[in-house]
Amino acid sequence: MQAAPVHPLPAVSRGPAPDLAPAACRDQLGRPLKDLRLSVIDRCNFRCTYCMPRERFGRDYPFLTPAQRLSDQELLEIARGFVSLGVEKVRLTGGEPLLRKGIESLVEGIASLRTPQGRQVEVAMTTNGSLLARKARSLRDAGLGRVTVSLDSLDDRTFRAMNDVDFPVGRVLEGIEAARAAGLAPVKVNCVVERGTNDAQVLPLIEHFRGSGVTLRFIEYMDVEGPSAWSQSRVVPSGEIRAMVERAHALVPVVRRASETSSNYLIADGSLRLGFISSVSHPFCGDCTRARVSVDGRLFLCLFATDSVDLRAHLATNHPADAVADVVREAWQARGDRYSELREELREDRRASGKRQYPTVRMSLVGG
Ligand code: GTP
Ligand code: 5AD
Ligand code: SF4
Ligand code: SF4
Repeated sequence: MQAAPVHPLPAVSRGPAPDLAPAACRDQLGRPLKDLRLSVIDRCNFRCTYCMPRERFGRDYPFLTPAQRLSDQELLEIARGFVSLGVEKVRLTGGEPLLRKGIESLVEGIASLRTPQGRQVEVAMTTNGSLLARKARSLRDAGLGRVTVSLDSLDDRTFRAMNDVDFPVGRVLEGIEAARAAGLAPVKVNCVVERGTNDAQVLPLIEHFRGSGVTLRFIEYMDVEGPSAWSQSRVVPSGEIRAMVERAHALVPVVRRASETSSNYLIADGSLRLGFISSVSHPFCGDCTRARVSVDGRLFLCLFATDSVDLRAHLATNHPADAVADVVREAWQARGDRYSELREELREDRRASGKRQYPTVRMSLVGG
């Protein structure tokens, strides 16, 4: 049989799809600025042992005073500045963001922003869920797109011990349910896994959320400032959690979006989407597109940064959003941070130089 003639195909570029982020907003490692994590309060009604241990965050802890916190208008101008640089997703964080009075109007303001291409800005929130049952509907009405709720255990005793304020798990479950009912979808649930504390909760959490439409993510315990008890031995690597899950359920990998924090899987029967956030065992700095701003107006280029850039000073101008955008652009272009990839080295350096062992930014100031 005669071979079919071969027609050479026209040369087609098979490189990555063009990224429309302005070149001006790439950092030293080529990472575009895409996400803003905006902390709206540094206080929290929980004292999670891995984040705000009671012995450090006691009654006399110098939290920011209301006067030190930016107003809604100032936070909105900051968000506007980021959006003008191409940011399309703003995540509100805390501490606990629902402790901020009038949070709905801030959500509404940010949700009304448009990107230079005229697209709507996605507004998300990371919350401990304690106030969500009564707020979910009004947040949705204000324009919140979706929520991520922290939940480390289904077992009430373990949950109360981990939040260390004796808060019952049932109320957070009600909050998650209210968020689902309000359409804040997809609701994500984050569980920080600490060896010996809640690792036995992995399978019960999976059982509980199967079929609910919730995405459940397990986070490796990180060495952020605050938990003086952190040690590598208390980290349960995601590989180990996954192996534990796979003894009970077949998992199918799901493609990870660029710059997503989690590796994702589906339980093979389709009943639950699972994610693993492996900042300790498999750092994801290579495509980290997130900037963080604290409620006193400081820009942090990394969750583990030891310094910050003051944005507050630039708000008292005639065009605050433009002024913020100029400062952020310059800072982002100079950015080379990749703490998690250099964790051991940097921890060693900080130890040797006599600096505090932990980075100076605390999780509850920049909201994870
Ligand atoms: P979506 O992708 O929009 O769902 O959000 P997200 O995963 O960025 O948000 P979320 O607040 O749920 O983040 C989950 C957790 O992952 C945080 O609380 C942190 O513990 C961790 N995390 C998020 N971003 C980073 C990061 O840039 N670096 C490190 N090391 N950890 C991060
Ligand atoms: N390690 C990992 N995640 C943490 N978070 C707070 N402290 C830590 C830590 N030490 C996460 C919580 C929550 C978010 C606000 O920050 O899971 O989802
Ligand atoms: Fe509060 Fe969230 Fe930190 Fe827990 S992890 S103390 S809920 S900010
Ligand atoms: Fe981004 Fe810093 Fe986290 Fe790396 S350690 S992913 S650079 S925030």
